[in-house]
Formats: sequence, C-alpha cells, structure tokens
Amino acid sequence: MSTAKRAACVIGWPAKHSRSPKMHGWWLKHYGIDGEYRMEEVPPEEFPAFIGNLRGNGYVGANVTIPHKEAAFRLTEPDEHARAVGASNTLWYDNGVLRSTNTDVEGFLGALDAGAPGWEQTDRHVVVFGAGGAARAVVWGLLERGIARVHVVNRTFERAAEIAERYGNRVIPEPWEDRNRVLEGAGLAANATSLGLKGNPELDADLSRMASGAVVADINYVPLETKLLAQARRLGLKTADGLDMLLYQAGRGFELWFGVRPEVTPELRNLLAQDIPKT
Ligand code: ATR
Repeated sequence: MSTAKRAACVIGWPAKHSRSPKMHGWWLKHYGIDGEYRMEEVPPEEFPAFIGNLRGNGYVGANVTIPHKEAAFRLTEPDEHARAVGASNTLWYDNGVLRSTNTDVEGFLGALDAGAPGWEQTDRHVVVFGAGGAARAVVWGLLERGIARVHVVNRTFERAAEIAERYGNRVIPEPWEDRNRVLEGAGLAANATSLGLKGNPELDADLSRMASGAVVADINYVPLETKLLAQARRLGLKTADGLDMLLYQAGRGFELWFGVRPEVTPELRNLLAQDIPKT
C-alpha cells in the first residue's frame, strides 16, 4: 500500500466555477482525512488520455463536469445509474478497473427528500422542464422512485420525445407552449433547463395551477433562490433547490475515494451559500 496522500479531483473545461473543491475540502478536514481534492482543467481533446492515466496523474478517482460527462461514460465501465442516464460524473477504481456512476440522480432525490419528505407519495402527475443530460438524471430518478407519469416539457419537442423513447410509456413528451396546461393539477415540477440561471432568461411558468401541497425543484443554484422557487414559496408550495442537489450528489464520490460516507450539514451548506447570490 502506498503511503502517498489519497487525492481526487474535478475535471472540467472550464472547472474554475466548480464548488466541489470547497465541499470535499471541508469534508476532508471535518473527518480528519489526510487527503486532497483538486481542480483539473482539461480540454476535450486531452480528456481521454487524462482519465486513461488517472492513477498515473495521482488520483484515486474524480468528478467530471461540463463538457466531459458523455465522454467519461464512454471511456469507463459505467454502473446502472450512469447507463440509465448515458452520462457519468463520478469515477473510481474498482480492482484496477476505472468505473463510473452518475450521482446527479441521487443529488436530485436527496434534495427532494430533504426539502419535501414523502414527496413520492403523490398520486398526481409530475412535470419536468428540459430534455438534456440533467433532465435525463431527473426523469430517471423520478421513475426509480415509482412516479407513475412524468410529463417532459421541452423547447425542442424531439428531445422530449427521445427521453420518452429511452424510458418508456411512463414518460409523456409535451411541447413547450403547453407548459401551463401540463402544470394543471401536477404534484411536482422540476426545472432541468438552464432557464433561471443568473444571466439567462427566466422560466416563465404558472405554478398556481399545480395541486395544493405540490413540490417545486430547480437544478440551478445561482442564484440560490431562482425566480421559479420564489414563486413556489409565495404560493406556499414545498421546494428543493440546486445547492442541496449539488451537496447530495457529492457524498457518493467522497465515500468511494476516502472510505467515509459524509454528511450534508447546515454548516457545510452555509459555507457554500456564502459566495452565491441569494436572488
Ligand atoms: P444539460 O446536459 O446540462 O442538461 P443541455 O443539453 O444544453 O444541458 O440542456 C439544456 C436544457 O435547457 C434543454 O432542455 C434546453 O432546451 P432545448 O433542448 O430546446 O435546447 C433548455 N433551454 C435552454 N435555453 C432555453 C430557452 N431559452 N428556452 C427554453 N428552454 C431552454
């Protein structure tokens, strides 16, 4: 066994925006683990060689972010979650084999469980906005937890239809113009588009049409409270935010690399929230 410090990293292009070093660094300190978590900016053309020699580059594993998630999926041995989503964000060595998983699924579910316990008991339909990689993780998570009907609303209808084709007839593709009709009586709505992220247009949707006691989730965490979540709060709906999704997706990687299942605590959340605009 080598006595070198165990190290993991986040690989992105760019990667500077990533909150992962702060999060994992806090856990390493909190649990008294002699490890490191670094940031690696790797351009797409160098990515295959970089992860092909991840161990040689000094790492026991890694997170992968934009734009490498699909490449990471193709270049590793993916688990069931990664295969379901078709993208990987967490890599680790399993008996010398570089494996991968997609923890965005458990990030989304973890944030819902924290913000709206019992959310999956709904007998209402569920609405997902978006049809990219993030939406695939969200839709898969909902199906896994037994949601009977997931309506996927997307600007480019064909992409919504592709998701329905991928996951079967519990998923119903819907055109973007119909979003308010689709929200009528819904038990949960999740924004998996980049709308509402600071600098982008807002997601214009009428949440007052949802069932009473409905839940609204947003994958975006800049600002902390998106306009969509603010609307939900004003209507008295339950919410799950993007920062909780980020926190809950991180634990599995930490456990795989450093051997401890870390806890998401208010202290860690507050630390990350410090440098994110509130509104
Ligand atoms: P990711 O893999 O991170 O989900 P993506 O594949 O670029 O990223 O997906 C972004 C999502 O936001 C898509 O659903 C996109 O809609 P399209 O499939 O029509 O491109 C959605 N999106 C981005 N800008 C939008 C806008 N101005 N109006 C509506 N939807 C938008």
